[in-house]
Amino acid sequence: MRMVDLIEKKRDGLELSTEEINFIIKGYTDGSIPDYQVSALTMAIFFKGMTERERADLTMAMVESGDQIDLSKIEGIKVDKHSTGGVGDTTTLVLGPLVAAVGVPVAKMSGRGLGHTGGTVDKLEAVNGFHVEIGNEEFISLVNKNKVAVIGQSGNLTPADKKLYALRDVTATVDSIPLIASSIMSKKIAAGADAIVLDVKTGAGAFMKTLDDSRELAKAMVRIGNNVGRKTMAVISDMSQPLGFAIGNALEVQEAIDTLRGEGPEDLTELCLTLGSHMVFLAGKAGSQNEARELLEKAIKDGTALETFRMFLSSQGGDASVIDDPQKLPKAAHIIELEAREDGYVSEIVADEIGTAAMLLGAGRATKESEIDLAVGLVLKKKIGDKVTKGESLLTIHSNFEDVSEVKELLYNNIRISKEKVKAPVLIHEEIT
Ligand code: URA
Ligand code: CA
Repeated sequence: MRMVDLIEKKRDGLELSTEEINFIIKGYTDGSIPDYQVSALTMAIFFKGMTERERADLTMAMVESGDQIDLSKIEGIKVDKHSTGGVGDTTTLVLGPLVAAVGVPVAKMSGRGLGHTGGTVDKLEAVNGFHVEIGNEEFISLVNKNKVAVIGQSGNLTPADKKLYALRDVTATVDSIPLIASSIMSKKIAAGADAIVLDVKTGAGAFMKTLDDSRELAKAMVRIGNNVGRKTMAVISDMSQPLGFAIGNALEVQEAIDTLRGEGPEDLTELCLTLGSHMVFLAGKAGSQNEARELLEKAIKDGTALETFRMFLSSQGGDASVIDDPQKLPKAAHIIELEAREDGYVSEIVADEIGTAAMLLGAGRATKESEIDLAVGLVLKKKIGDKVTKGESLLTIHSNFEDVSEVKELLYNNIRISKEKVKAPVLIHEEIT
């Protein structure tokens, strides 16, 4: 087989066979096929697309390019949740203990990564002593015991995707639905999930800004999952404004505690109950989605969800007394109110720019080398549709710098107030199965 013939085939809009896709991914991973040929191919895919069969084959070829996590020693159906990423998305922190509380095993592999705030691991490290550097055996026994554990990302998962994603990044071929869908799905499948619930975000703070694009991506991922034997479904949820109130690491841990106690923000609670009920249903722990939701609501009400979070934190070295005593979480030196400059209704809170403001405070990493400040971030006091009077607080800035004038300016420019009444955005746009 010659790579040049395969590039030509895709350039002309023809379908690549399973053997041809395996040849490409194997050759790219071992270095026998050079970057310049693969970049020509990804550009051809960008323009000509891929069939459903090609997408499933590409996904599995990337899964097989490296290690696959074996979760077979964990009892029950392992359901993983994946979010395409947003601003102040506290769902993973809530969902792990929440669905574990009703008996669904959550074996989560999580990373740090770049962004407005840290990744799930950074957030959890706001709890003193908590760590994810545990061995595979301990990880599996913790999931069997507590139904939830988090382990740091292991070295050699989907190396083909790592290489391909980096190449796409510098060849203007990231924005291709078949390539995005297979990239995301390959990582979930290699991490050992039996079933997958996808939270595809849409709006200003999302990777996909329009509902049409989000739907197309969601459908592509759901088809890949189901075609390779993993039950998969997707929820398309709003990310035009940040989710919940808190954006920042320790601040989001506090928000997760509040939510597990039944006192969290309405939108975050609703999204967690929706995603969670799909997870519980796919795991076979409820006969219907409604029944699944009732189980989760009960776990919040009777305290088992919060107790599960406590066990999870202390089993991985964390000081779980933060649940009762929030003063033990890292605290910023300065808490500054952002006061409304006029009366009206909040009409826009541009999620990605608000995320950038949190990052400027130090809540997230701009580069791999940046240090995160776990204490800092933002807590919204108003969301879209809320009435506000001049001088009232729109949000609080938690900062370790005294001078936050630059951050304030960015925030004022991206929180709009209208004289007319404004409707709150729809939170859950669609569910795709
Ligand atoms: N996220 C991924 O993991 N892969 C892509 O291709 C795009 C976003
Ligand atoms: Ca939040």
